Amino acid sequence: MTKVCVFDSGIGGLTVVKSLLRTFPDWHYIYLGDTARLPYGNKSPQTIRSYLEQCLGYLEQFDPDVYVVACNSASTQAHEKEWKGRPLFNVIDPVIDEVIQKTQNNKVGVIATRATVNSRIFSHKINTKNPNIAVIEQACPLFVPLAEEGWIDDPITNLIAYRYLTPLRAEKCDTVVLGCTHYPILVNSVKKALSNQVCLISSGEALAQLMQNHFQVSKSPHCENHFIPKLDVLVTDLSPNISIMIQLILGKECNVPIKWVTL
Ligand code: DGL
Repeated sequence: MTKVCVFDSGIGGLTVVKSLLRTFPDWHYIYLGDTARLPYGNKSPQTIRSYLEQCLGYLEQFDPDVYVVACNSASTQAHEKEWKGRPLFNVIDPVIDEVIQKTQNNKVGVIATRATVNSRIFSHKINTKNPNIAVIEQACPLFVPLAEEGWIDDPITNLIAYRYLTPLRAEKCDTVVLGCTHYPILVNSVKKALSNQVCLISSGEALAQLMQNHFQVSKSPHCENHFIPKLDVLVTDLSPNISIMIQLILGKECNVPIKWVTL
């Protein structure tokens, strides 16, 4: 059985696990959420890099076949393609080609944390492949606490989304990247703030597609309702709302073991 270690600053990276589970339902997932140090999105590149190394170093003990950095802020500092001789995937590279294929008017929006926006990594990677695409990057720092609070489809979240997404509407972006693994939780508010025609791209889906091509596997069907994933969740701080968040992302019936660990 393929063992994959997935790492995020918190619980939002489970949106990536959810996408991977649809493609690789039989894999064993070990998920590390660095909840004690969340958010990464307002920290410096040096601090994020040192957290990334520490978390990947911790996961080495599980001897995984694959590492996944399921956090965009951490992915800005994850430049290597391998970790200790095993493939290392980030959540930024998989969306770049998809964005370039999908945009019709060459105007792409990226919504992400401040750390990701300040790195300009999306603009750089998209423009290296296609310099004609205008990339409008917008930090949405309130989205992570709103998602963690469970304010999904809430009028306040809708208003905040409308305000954050004003520059993307003004520029008539036809393609928008959810450049933070928490944001799929707020997808309905994001959709309401944009025109129906806008194509939304989420890193989890793009990564699952890339990994499917990489490992040359075909999707194995499973029944979503009765499916129990092989998933262990490790967190560096265990607050009461963590299991609520996990069920919010993976579904109410998903009771996964959660362990509090020290790095
Ligand atoms: N998971 C992080 C990301 O994708 C967002 C949360 C944080 O700021 O740490 O950027």
